Amino acid sequence: MSAMKMARLCRSLYLSALLATPFIDHAVAADWPYWTFTTVPFQPPKLNITTAGEAPDPGLIFLGPRGDQPNGTAAMIYDQAGNLVYQGPHEVTANVNVQTLFGKPVLTFWSGNMLDTGFGYGKVHILDDTYKEIYTVTLDGNFITPSGTAEESYNDLHESKITERNTMLVTAYNVTQANLTAVGGPEDGWMLDGHFYEIDIFTKQIFFSWSTANYSDQIPITLSRNPIADRGRNQSHPWDPYHINSIELVDDGYLVSFRHLFSVLYLNRDGSIKWRLSGDDGTDFDLGPGCNFSWQHHARAHDVSSSGMTLSLFNNDNANVHHQVSPTTGLVLQVDTSDMTVRNLRTLADESSPIYSVSQGNTQLLGNTTTGHVFMDYGAIGVVREYDSAGNTIMSAQFGPYNSVASYRGFKYDWHATPFWDPAVAVQRSPSGDINIFMSWNGATDYDSWAIYGGPSEALANATMLKTVARTGFETNVTLPAAVNVSYVQAVARQAGSNLRASTVIAL
Ligand SMILES: *[C@@H]1O[C@H](CO)[C@@H](O)[C@H](O)[C@H]1NC(C)=O
Ligand SMILES: *[C@@H]1O[C@H](CO)[C@@H](O)[C@H](O)[C@H]1NC(C)=O
Ligand SMILES: *[C@@H]1O[C@H](CO)[C@@H](O)[C@H](O)[C@H]1NC(C)=O
Ligand SMILES: *[C@@H]1O[C@H](CO)[C@@H](O)[C@H](O)[C@H]1NC(C)=O
Ligand SMILES: *[C@@H]1O[C@H](CO)[C@@H](O)[C@H](O)[C@H]1NC(C)=O
Ligand SMILES: *[C@@H]1O[C@H](CO)[C@@H](O)[C@H](O)[C@H]1NC(C)=O
Ligand SMILES: *[C@@H]1O[C@H](CO)[C@@H](O)[C@H](O)[C@H]1NC(C)=O
Ligand SMILES: *[C@@H]1O[C@H](CO)[C@@H](O)[C@H](O)[C@H]1NC(C)=O
Ligand SMILES: *[C@@H]1O[C@H](CO)[C@@H](O)[C@H](O)[C@H]1NC(C)=O
Ligand SMILES: *[C@@H]1O[C@H](CO)[C@@H](O)[C@H](O)[C@H]1NC(C)=O
Ligand SMILES: *[C@@H]1O[C@H](CO)[C@@H](O)[C@H](O)[C@H]1NC(C)=O
Repeated sequence: MSAMKMARLCRSLYLSALLATPFIDHAVAADWPYWTFTTVPFQPPKLNITTAGEAPDPGLIFLGPRGDQPNGTAAMIYDQAGNLVYQGPHEVTANVNVQTLFGKPVLTFWSGNMLDTGFGYGKVHILDDTYKEIYTVTLDGNFITPSGTAEESYNDLHESKITERNTMLVTAYNVTQANLTAVGGPEDGWMLDGHFYEIDIFTKQIFFSWSTANYSDQIPITLSRNPIADRGRNQSHPWDPYHINSIELVDDGYLVSFRHLFSVLYLNRDGSIKWRLSGDDGTDFDLGPGCNFSWQHHARAHDVSSSGMTLSLFNNDNANVHHQVSPTTGLVLQVDTSDMTVRNLRTLADESSPIYSVSQGNTQLLGNTTTGHVFMDYGAIGVVREYDSAGNTIMSAQFGPYNSVASYRGFKYDWHATPFWDPAVAVQRSPSGDINIFMSWNGATDYDSWAIYGGPSEALANATMLKTVARTGFETNVTLPAAVNVSYVQAVARQAGSNLRASTVIAL
């Protein structure tokens, strides 16, 4: 797909979420500061970081920026000072994160096309710690699309969770026809059937599948909190009554977030519905104070026991329908399945700087569920924040103007990677004849310095070590005097004084 079409699609996703919201920031992404480098053509957005109070937890920041910023759209990793660590191929991504597969850490992300109907078609990439793509998770089947055209792969963007049994849980949307008169739509209306699949990553076989249509007797479309408005009249504008946006394997069953039901459901391993927890009326639960949620994302279970679990989620609490406006929060809830009550453990929000996020986002518990730090990505608003145990904001990083640049999810992880590719090097001569050498090693996490070697010929480019220099962020430069007596140079990335990997040889 052309970059122009992709940009248009990203933009329409924002516009559809923006039209009825009162908090439009009129800044445009072109005004935002971007990094530029000499060794690589990347232009990632700069992070505007503020910190206060105790130190943030260690780790790197994982984002998939996209929107009104055509040259900074990719899977990205930054360090906590805001330096770029890794930029992947130019593509619209979602859920850039670190997971465990066959006992080893892997970098995973979705890439593909996002539609203005609020979902997408793409693939999930699984990269090892050299950034080699070791698996690509795709989904085929007889899916109907809004445009009626077939897609190469039907994985939706919302979920790509690896389970402890080395399968991946993925979402998919299917356009179906349905009688929508009960919700004010046409008798021969069009809607989205929410599916999810558990796919064996190694064999590629579908291990389990589930669809809202197959359980419509228990979750009829009349439960939807998403007004049909003018949707559902034709195939290109189907109504989305359910909107599955997170799935997790919990106790051999599935914890599933349905944004448009304001609900988190627990499904038994056979797919039958065990309980439904709704953020407005509780449904199967009594909600305690501070437990309401709506339009939520990223439901995750922690400390699961026979009497319940701790549930974290991203409570958008905002929508472009109903003109609903509330500060978005992170919630940590104690869900007791013996007496069917829900109690608030933590609410994460910054009252001095509230964020109103109409779509996307996630809440990552970095440690202990009640006392650890919490990392949140604000979805449609290009901001990530870290909260301390008392709920104070200790780090806030913005990567684009509000409602102009988004990251579907954003995370912090410890990640150590040594790319399979070599470092990049470039040379420029200053007007005075000095030789500036620029070096970078996209994705490398563990090197602290560079050594510059030089020599009289290509074969002897590493004959003499000319200089060493400490690493400065993504790209480091060093200046050699104009009179340096070498014709070829090579840069070598080093850690603690040991050479790791050499760049290609470059002629001066
Ligand atoms: C970065 O943050 C500072 C302080 O929070 C603010 O004054 C400044 O305007 C921000 N810059 C951008 C580009 O948003
Ligand atoms: C994107 O990169 C192209 C080529 O380098 C450049 O012409 C264009 O101005 C850039 N756009 C933005 C928004 O930076
Ligand atoms: C999608 O919906 C169509 C029409 O209802 C149906 O024929 C098709 O089997 C569905 N696809 C899947 C994968 O369930
Ligand atoms: C459509 O659903 C309505 C109830 O909402 C029902 O009265 C009507 O008979 C249904 N139409 C068809 C063709 O089944
Ligand atoms: C829905 O149920 C039908 C009939 O049991 C089954 O063939 C189909 O695979 C189910 N759909 C999904 C997505 O699991
Ligand atoms: C489909 O419905 C939408 C919303 O009602 C409308 O804007 C659009 O023009 C319709 N498309 C077609 C092809 O009829
Ligand atoms: C919050 O939950 C309570 C208890 O279930 C319910 O009575 C109330 O209507 C909810 N409020 C909102 C704003 O959803
Ligand atoms: C989390 O911390 C609390 C308070 O220190 C402690 O009681 C609890 O056992 C910890 N939870 C876990 C799962 O370690
Ligand atoms: C210099 O490079 C050659 C190959 O180009 C290699 O065989 C040799 O080991 C290198 N020497 C050092 C000191 O790195
Ligand atoms: C070279 O690196 C220094 C930091 O070490 C930086 O201040 C300077 O701008 C860089 N020069 C160029 C031309 O990028
Ligand atoms: C430059 O290097 C060449 C070959 O290594 C040597 O013959 C020559 O003397 C050197 N010149 C200077 C000024 O060091």
